[in-house]
Amino acid sequence: MAKAKRCITNDEFEKIVDTSNEWIVSRTGIKERRFCGDDENAFTLAMEAAQKAIESARLEINQIDCIVCGTISGEYITPSMACIIQRELGIREDIPVLDINAACSGFVYGLEVARGLLNSTNGTYGLVIGCEHLSKLLEMTDRNTCVLFGDGAGAAVIQTVDEGVYESVLGARGGYEIAVEGPGPKKSTIKMDGKAVFRFAVEAIPKCLMRLQEKGNISLDEVDMVICHQANARIIDHCVRKLKSNPEKFYKNMDRFGNTSAASIPMALDEIVKSSKVKCGDTLMLVGFGGGLTWAGTLIRIGEKHEEIK
Ligand code: UT7
Repeated sequence: MAKAKRCITNDEFEKIVDTSNEWIVSRTGIKERRFCGDDENAFTLAMEAAQKAIESARLEINQIDCIVCGTISGEYITPSMACIIQRELGIREDIPVLDINAACSGFVYGLEVARGLLNSTNGTYGLVIGCEHLSKLLEMTDRNTCVLFGDGAGAAVIQTVDEGVYESVLGARGGYEIAVEGPGPKKSTIKMDGKAVFRFAVEAIPKCLMRLQEKGNISLDEVDMVICHQANARIIDHCVRKLKSNPEKFYKNMDRFGNTSAASIPMALDEIVKSSKVKCGDTLMLVGFGGGLTWAGTLIRIGEKHEEIK
């Protein structure tokens, strides 16, 4: 993963808008988030995360068979972030390379798109990235949004295997509850009907996890860890209660990074893979939800290379 340089604590927002550390922590679980420094942006973070992922997987650049990037805050509408990464890393030309706009579900959608592309092109390794520079899209006078989001990037190299666990469920319910206008002459900022998105999330996540259990023929009890998009600790707690599951299984790191949209799941995955929380053969569920309104869940198994990567 790539962490943005500047660490911004809740106290700093108390100086800008009518808010308090107490409100932010109790309503969201966020204590601090990271914002890009002057020499950073979505591309520099994505580049760092992609390089680390390829190095960890011990691959040569020319072994990458597709690149998929989830982002809503790249520097360019075109070329895509994925194409810029391809160019800068010197990745082969004869492979599919594209961005996905599925907001906070972008990484999980990206995994599924990469899997489909690898299958249809007989490829083996896919580079999937989630990166965001959301601080540039924030209206710093709007307390409803400015305290929530952060910058960051995460990436993973995926490999097609003949046997193994892999199931996913994807969906969307068209809506403007989270919107960023553009491109245009005006500065684009994130607008969000937080309550509506909260209601959507606490319905979509359990539904998604239920369908994944059915499709994967596995119960939540048998799953070792669940990584939900890190928007709000209360959303995750709500879902844990609804599913009568074990809260320890549901990873949380929004206290340190805030909501980093498409980057939140790969950043959390990176922390988990590098920790002692999971081992080779463990099963994980990843669940994204957000702008679109999109939702996406996938079931993955930690591969044999895990010990080497750690
Ligand atoms: O990543 C995409 C997915 N996004 C999400 O999942 C976000 C989902 N939504 C949420 O996480 C929550 O709805 C929020 C954290 C955005 C808001 O929490 P809430 O408990 O739903 O608060 P609210 O919007 O109902 O607002 C309650 C009160 C309001 O004041 P009044 O009208 O009751 O006087 C807000 O103006 O809290 C006020 N408020 C704040 N107060 C202090 C809103 N933001 C703040 C703030 N500091 N930063």
